Amino acid sequence: MTVQWQAEAIWEAVSPLWPAFSVEILPEIDSTNTELMRRARAGQHDPVLLVAERQTAGRGRLGRDWKSDVQGEGGTLTFSLGVPLAPADWSGLSLAVGLAVVESLHPDLRLKWPNDVWLQQRKLAGILIETASVGDTRYAVIGIGINIAPRDATDLRTPPAALQELWPEATAPDVLARVALPLVQAVQQFVVQGFAPLRPAFHARDLLYGQEVVCSDGTTGTARGVDASGALLVHTDQGLIKINSAEVSVRPAPPPSPDPGSRGRTV
Ligand code: BTN
Repeated sequence: MTVQWQAEAIWEAVSPLWPAFSVEILPEIDSTNTELMRRARAGQHDPVLLVAERQTAGRGRLGRDWKSDVQGEGGTLTFSLGVPLAPADWSGLSLAVGLAVVESLHPDLRLKWPNDVWLQQRKLAGILIETASVGDTRYAVIGIGINIAPRDATDLRTPPAALQELWPEATAPDVLARVALPLVQAVQQFVVQGFAPLRPAFHARDLLYGQEVVCSDGTTGTARGVDASGALLVHTDQGLIKINSAEVSVRPAPPPSPDPGSRGRTV
């Protein structure tokens, strides 16, 4: 299947904001993040949007793989934005990026702190941000993978969501064309203002708020949104605590206590 990317239109929209910006579409690469990190270490620090129609070794957070079985047929959009950045404070960047993605795509999408986009109770997209040092500043590689079409999920515990459930005619090029400019604008705004002004917008999309959660550091409690730096707030038996980095899962609800009135009855 030939995929029609709107690379020139994206370039025209973004290049006034980021001189020397380029858009590159590759049929195949190991990972767009790995490639931009390789380039950064080799001294290439220009802003670039690198899209891969197929990744052979896509990477997720915490050393996990990022698998997308129907890639190459437009079933998944995989790309990385590489940009030199010098924010006063990096905290909350992944939340700002997630917000740009959900706000440019659909009102029903939610953010699961810190890096995931969810649709109802399933993951739709993931974000992996890495940085390389460039003199006094850093080169940020913001990798995003979005499931466009439903895909084979036999190897996954929970089948992932796909954007076509909300937007049946969505294609990877359409989605990239919608996300690219808002993403660049969000990154530039983050450099100037940080995460704090985005807190209400995050709250409106927060999947975890009010849910009983378990964090990978053992903390359990009720999610209470994020603070001005993007740290997760969890109400625990010891009070409100801040989580800066951890995996968070929603604690399954306890089984309902038996209804005394229905004891012994069969329905
Ligand atoms: C996660 O959910 O753990 C993050 C997934 C990030 C996947 C994207 S796909 C484009 C870019 N290249 C990669 O190898 N990973 C990111």
